[in-house]
Amino acid sequence: MGKDKLKRFAEVEKFKNVIQPNLNNFLNDHELKGKWSTKFNNSNPIILELGCGRGEYTVGLARKFPKINFIGIDIKGSRLWRGAKTCVEENINNVFFLRTKVDFIEQFFNTNEVNEIWLTFSDPQPKKPRKRLTSPLFIERYKELLKKDGVIHLKTDSDLLYEYTLEEIERNNYSIINHLNDVHGQLNDKSDPELYEILNIETYYESIWLKEGKKIKYVSFTAIHKG
Ligand SMILES: C[S@@+](CC[C@H](N)C(=O)[O-])C[C@H]1O[C@@H](n2cnc3c(N)ncnc32)[C@H](O)[C@@H]1O
Repeated sequence: MGKDKLKRFAEVEKFKNVIQPNLNNFLNDHELKGKWSTKFNNSNPIILELGCGRGEYTVGLARKFPKINFIGIDIKGSRLWRGAKTCVEENINNVFFLRTKVDFIEQFFNTNEVNEIWLTFSDPQPKKPRKRLTSPLFIERYKELLKKDGVIHLKTDSDLLYEYTLEEIERNNYSIINHLNDVHGQLNDKSDPELYEILNIETYYESIWLKEGKKIKYVSFTAIHKG
């Protein structure tokens, strides 16, 4: 393992804004389940970013919306380190990072504890549809944590994941709020300022795909059946 990675692992252990659960205890509910408002010291809404990597989206939204609490979740500690360090440096207090697999998410949040979920440039898992973060398996998990009208946002470069998610939404008769198949071509601060505000944050992976000329897609929906 590289020296930098080791240094980050050591540093991340000390950050008060990073929660690294004991991996031997992964079958039990975490002590913070149902208690995140105590951890944040307020009862503001909670938004999760799943597979947050370096946490650019979590940090970007947290800067814009200081009255909302954000939790960035990823399994890779050395990536979380970047977001956590930025929050320490900028004194951003409405963010925690949680190092775990999204697969165990129900052990960390109670029913109705979460207001929204962001999925940013998630792995499209071409050969393993069940592992896609918008597969029925995962959406059912999210439904357990989300408030009734809780929104799920997907921002992706992947046509496969975008089309798959739209098909899942249609198959389940879920309600779409917005969808764009070319975020940067279709949206600007005049056309829809509110949507622009939440979509003009660029992550590490987004910057890579943009350089390759890929179009960025976005869909938001509630997992409530229409009509
Ligand atoms: C392609 S990267 C995107 C990272 C970041 N959202 C961005 O846009 O730069 C996907 C991230 O999801 C994380 N990831 C994938 N599957 C996961 C899972 N089941 N649980 C936790 N993290 C996961 C990976 O560790 C990786 O950091």
